[in-house]
Amino acid sequence: MRGMAASSSISIPVASRVNNFTYAIRNIVAEARAVEAAGKTVKYLNIGDPIPFGFATPPALVEVVTKAMRDGANGYVPSPGIQPAREAVAQEWSARGFPVSADRVLVTAGTSEGIELALTALANPGDRVLVPMPTYPLYTAVLAKIGADPGYYRTDPARGWVPDLEHLESLITSRTRALVVIDPNNPTGAVYPTAVRRALIDIADRRGLVILADEVYGDVAYDGAVPPLGSLAPDGPVVAFSSLSKAYLAPGWRTGWLAVSRNPRLDDLLAAMKKLADGRLCSNGPTQHAIAPALLGDRSHQAVFRAALRERAAVTARTLNAIPGFSCVQPQAAFYAMPKVTLRPGVTDEQFIVGLLRATGVLCVYGSGFGTRPEDGYFRVVFLASPAELEAIYAEVGRFAREFLGA
Ligand SMILES: Cc1ncc(COP(=O)(O)O)c(C=O)c1O
Repeated sequence: MRGMAASSSISIPVASRVNNFTYAIRNIVAEARAVEAAGKTVKYLNIGDPIPFGFATPPALVEVVTKAMRDGANGYVPSPGIQPAREAVAQEWSARGFPVSADRVLVTAGTSEGIELALTALANPGDRVLVPMPTYPLYTAVLAKIGADPGYYRTDPARGWVPDLEHLESLITSRTRALVVIDPNNPTGAVYPTAVRRALIDIADRRGLVILADEVYGDVAYDGAVPPLGSLAPDGPVVAFSSLSKAYLAPGWRTGWLAVSRNPRLDDLLAAMKKLADGRLCSNGPTQHAIAPALLGDRSHQAVFRAALRERAAVTARTLNAIPGFSCVQPQAAFYAMPKVTLRPGVTDEQFIVGLLRATGVLCVYGSGFGTRPEDGYFRVVFLASPAELEAIYAEVGRFAREFLGA
């Protein structure tokens, strides 16, 4: 008993890999909770979830899922996903010029699980995977967990945040396995021109890399859906990812998919991902029933959503660019912008964002959480609130910035 008492006072140690796993988007929420506890209202501009801002999942999809549950679809489903969902994904991507067959589609718990399956199946400890900078932080979090090495290729705000291809190529080593392309992009809102997309495929092809094409925002570009990257190279080494989260406004359903191009060089990778997927039995069952109706049915909600986002993007860029010391590239897709504030020497983006939060309750994420340099002063805004609310919030940001920057 005495021995037990002594040992029970010692924390159970956790694995060292967790030390490397950081996820700024959620980490900063702890700071926000403290601000809330002190009695201030926090305006959450940090998580890309349209639902709390009044956007709604299409009712027809909600109906399909509830009916599936009422009809008893509550058991495990096949680990790669239910057949109608796999076929719908294959049909939809093929119709858009990326020819894939249903047996090369896996249904996953969101794009997130697809990303984790692909990186786990591809990279050994010490292998390199190229990710954009700024990046969506899940990539680097998973790479840290599996002990792989992120190579951050620059994307250039002076050219609308497109990848710097020369820099990208300079990062390729003999141990580089994959190239992550997020287009349309979070956190920058960029949509890459076709020539850049072709050049990315060409680099991957020449250098023997797999492209992991994150297309979760493919349908939320303001000028209309972006063709899948795989449509530019149907035989290219492409694994594409998407989900119901953004374009179908159902992020909490954790329902997405991946598709592996018909290139036989990817057969082993597909088999490896299927093997890993077997281990988790299946992804959420009832919500998979919404995939075919979503992809093959009425999409009128997307035009409404895109128009709402276009308006918010315009308000964001116009208002933030009017603040002295700020610059903001106009987003072309999704609900994110990556403005820059010119900081005094020695000041970090995190200090600016934590200061902003404490003073105004406005919660954004500092750019270094996405891989930019702390002194560069980038931060990410999620602009899902109404245009009027955004105007009011940006006015507070402006007042705080004038004080913080000592103008
Ligand atoms: C670029 C990017 N990829 C993947 C995800 C994760 O999406 P899902 O909900 O499909 O897992 C997000 C979510 O914000 C994202 O921005």
